[in-house]
Amino acid sequence: MHESGSACQSFLDAGQYTRDSILKYELVYGTNFVSPGGARCATRLIKKLDLPAYARVLDVGCGLGGSAFLMAQDFGLDVDAIDLSENMLALARERLAQTGLKNRVQLRNQDCLELYVQNYYDAIYSRDVFLHIHDKQKLFSNLYTALKPSGKLLFTDYCCDEKPWQSDFSAYVENRGYHLCTVSDYRKLLDVAGFGFIETFDRTKDFIRFCKTELDTINSLDIAQSDRTSLKNDWLKKIERARVSNQRWGMFYASK
Ligand SMILES: C[S@@+](CC[C@H](N)C(=O)[O-])C[C@H]1O[C@@H](n2cnc3c(N)ncnc32)[C@H](O)[C@@H]1O
Repeated sequence: MHESGSACQSFLDAGQYTRDSILKYELVYGTNFVSPGGARCATRLIKKLDLPAYARVLDVGCGLGGSAFLMAQDFGLDVDAIDLSENMLALARERLAQTGLKNRVQLRNQDCLELYVQNYYDAIYSRDVFLHIHDKQKLFSNLYTALKPSGKLLFTDYCCDEKPWQSDFSAYVENRGYHLCTVSDYRKLLDVAGFGFIETFDRTKDFIRFCKTELDTINSLDIAQSDRTSLKNDWLKKIERARVSNQRWGMFYASK
């Protein structure tokens, strides 16, 4: 992605995450979510972290705050939720005000590449954010530093096959400005950053299953026909990229 935090922020806010597109994505993923599988998938992943109440968690790229709210409300965790998109955060702040969780969830505009805390978090959680980040070595080094000893890292992300890619997939990745890794690239990056107990999973089949459910949601939404058609096309292409082209979806777990 771009070199400075603020360049990144305008790239996100003026591009993929305009207020209108966020609200459209949210209709598909479910209230307060902008990632595959919505709240059900998030709940399963948070359970996997297996944290005691009052553990301190960093949600990197929290978006509208759905996961952070679940962590606080259903698991009794204290959450620092950071995001670089001001459009996301403005909506997240409105939603937080409605939850009564202000003492358990802190929302902050912050680039995860500019994270300077040390030995602070019991866990770091992130959903489909790292695709936006070019300097993944710096990313994982920062996250490692921010975790307490034995702290846990759990994330999901859009991934890819080894190159060469099909031309449609290359065009899609370039057009979005994504920086994708293979599932095994992520294992290496985590290893180099110092993480242990690394578990990596190719969850592309789950991703396709989520997309199909989201497609049913799109069909049932009370929206303009043109919006429905455009969302359906986006989701059908997503399924196609994961089924027969080079897109993968990964889930990753590691500890310090
Ligand atoms: C696909 S959305 C996922 C949002 C949320 N994790 C969810 O599950 O609904 C990706 C998010 O990553 C954020 N993001 C991208 N680059 C970031 C960075 N360098 N630091 C913090 N957040 C970032 C975007 O602004 C966006 O909100």
